[in-house]
Order: sequence, then C-alpha cells, then structure tokens
Amino acid sequence: MAKITVGLDIGNSSIKIVSLSKDKDQFKLISLGSIPTPKPGMASDTDADLEVLANSIKQLFQSTKIEQKEVAVALPESRVFTRVIDDLPYLTDNELASAINYAAEEFIPMSLADVNLNWQVLVRSENKTGNAKTVALVIASPKHVVSKYIKVLEMAGLHPRALETEIIAITRSLVGNNPFSPSTLIMQMGTTTTDFAAVSKGLIWLTRSISTGGMALTRALAQHFNFELSQAEQYKKVYGLVEDQLEGKLFEALKPVVDIIAGEARRVIQAFSAKYPQNSIKRVVLSGGGAKMQGLIIYLANALGLEVQEADPWYSIAKEKDAVLKLAQNASSYSVAVGLAQRED
Ligand SMILES: Nc1ncnc2c1ncn2[C@@H]1O[C@H](COP(=O)(O)OP(=O)(O)OP(=O)(O)O)[C@@H](O)[C@H]1O
Ligand SMILES: [Mg+2]
Repeated sequence: MAKITVGLDIGNSSIKIVSLSKDKDQFKLISLGSIPTPKPGMASDTDADLEVLANSIKQLFQSTKIEQKEVAVALPESRVFTRVIDDLPYLTDNELASAINYAAEEFIPMSLADVNLNWQVLVRSENKTGNAKTVALVIASPKHVVSKYIKVLEMAGLHPRALETEIIAITRSLVGNNPFSPSTLIMQMGTTTTDFAAVSKGLIWLTRSISTGGMALTRALAQHFNFELSQAEQYKKVYGLVEDQLEGKLFEALKPVVDIIAGEARRVIQAFSAKYPQNSIKRVVLSGGGAKMQGLIIYLANALGLEVQEADPWYSIAKEKDAVLKLAQNASSYSVAVGLAQRED
C-alpha cells in the first residue's frame, strides 16, 4: 500500500491539515481540512490553553478522517533564526560544523545551548583548489519553542515525524527542487507576519519575516472607520484593495500597511541581487491567506515591477476532478501544510 504522509500547519487564525499518498513519483491528495485556532493558541505557555489547542487538532483529525499519528509540523519563521552563511572557504563536514557554530553566535541573540542548530549545504566546491567555497543555510530553533510544539502534539496523541520552518515547507510545495525554475520571491502573508524567501535553483538564499500581516490590515481598517475587528475583517475580505470600491476609502486605509509589506519585498529583492548580481528575481509567488485579498496581486505587480502569481501548492498533486475547483478557492492557505506532507524523510 502507498505510504500516507501528513502535514499539520498550526497558524494563528486556523489550523490546516493535508494528507497525501505517494505512488511512484506522484503525490495524490487523500484528505485536507482546517479549523479555527482557539485563542491564545501557541502564544500561551499554560498547559490548559495548550490542551484546548490540542483538542482542536484532534477534532481536525476526526473531521478529515486522518488516522496517521506521525505528522510533519512547521515552526513559524518569526520564532526561528535563519541565515545563509556564504563567506566560508572549502570545508569538510567536521570543519563546517565548527565554522557554523562559530558563525551562529553572531546572528543568534541567545545562547547556543538554548537552540537546535541545523544546516543545509547550498554550495560546496569539489575540492580546495581555486576560489573554493561553502555556502550553507543555517537554522536555529529555540529549544523552548520546539518543546512547546512537541508538547501540543503529544497532548493531541501525535508524534512529530519532522519539524521544519514554514519557509522550507512552502518552498517545497510552491517551487520544488526544479533547478530550472526562475528565481522567485515567495511571500507568505499570514495573520501576524509576512515571511519572504528568495529561492533560486530550488534552494533558499535569503529569508525575512516581518510582523505585519493580515491582522495589521484588519486593524488599519478598524481604526480608520472605527469598526469592530470582526467588521473590519469582513470589509477587508469583501472589498480588499480595489481602488474604486467605496470611493477608494478602504484603499486609502489599507495602502500604508500594504506598502510596508511591498517595501520589505523590494528590500529582499534588492538584497538578493546585490549578493548574487548574475541572478535576479524574475517573479513573485504570493502565498498565505492574505494572498486572497482582492486587488493585492495587481497592486504588488505594479509596486515591484514583476509578475506576481497567487500560490498554488496543488499544482503537482493528483486529485479527483471535482476537487479541483474547491481546492482552488483556498489554495494559497494550504502552501505550508502541503509542503510538510510532501517531505519525504
Ligand atoms: N479574501 C481575503 N482577503 C483578505 N485577507 C484574507 C482573505 N482571506 C483570508 N485573509 C487573511 O489571511 C489571514 C489568514 O491567513 P492564514 O490562514 O495564512 O494565516 P495563519 O496561518 O492562520 O496565520 P499565521 O501564519 O500568521 O500563523 C487573516 O489575516 C485573514 O484576514
Ligand atoms: Mg500560517
């Protein structure tokens, strides 16, 4: 029987789950679903709150009829420290480990004893000759964050098959490891954050996370019009960033926040081309719930001068014909969960 893998994305607004089976080289959709995240969710440190969260996860497994207990889970980009270290000479594995430990002290604002350090080699010359070098993507996950995720999973009766960062999961589902796909900026707009990754040749070269996401847009509307948050949220979802709606008043209120996000996107694009001058970003893929905002794709395309696409993590996954339309409506919300389920080890 084909092996079934499960990806679980515990977001601030909603928890998403996807299960896939793999036959030869083809993933197939088995089940998916989402459920609102109870407050305060992962932000809490008390067992009682974490139990409530775990119960929602259990409910989601029941409603989607997913029976597997092994799950891949994502750590939010804003809670981990990610950096590409590219000024290393040719190094053996052992030398690399100590060089990374040394370099990590510079960008991790906490003791190395309190983080799990992982890395992925992006470039390594074959030998020591010429201008041989090593480039590595280094990820430091605070142990207290990791243990909270494991605790919630255990409370839900689950076992972590893998824990990785959201950016790594999204890159797998949206770009894959195709060395020929054009260099891409992935933007993931969630509730509390927007995360960025410059991806080229299927590898991540630059990441960033800012604390401006969908909630900041909702807050801007609430303040501008003196709305309750729930009403502002509705207006945002119905009218979005379309200039000729409600005499442009919504647009006016949302624009300063969208410009913060667009400005950061521009900085990541510039930082990437400054570092890798022969390799510039050719397109933007917009992911997360925020990608569904009316008018946002066109606005960003104009602001950045690049083609902007809405994320479709289902593009390479086999699914029943009548599922296709339904999946399309919410596609961008499932990028993390699909990428997690596609993880093979
Ligand atoms: N049609 C829409 N127009 C505008 N915003 C939308 C729309 N649909 C969803 N959103 C916004 O997307 C956000 C939720 O996205 P998503 O499900 O990716 O977040 P999350 O994973 O729960 O949160 P996080 O990643 O921050 O933990 C909310 O801020 C919501 O208002
Ligand atoms: Mg999310």
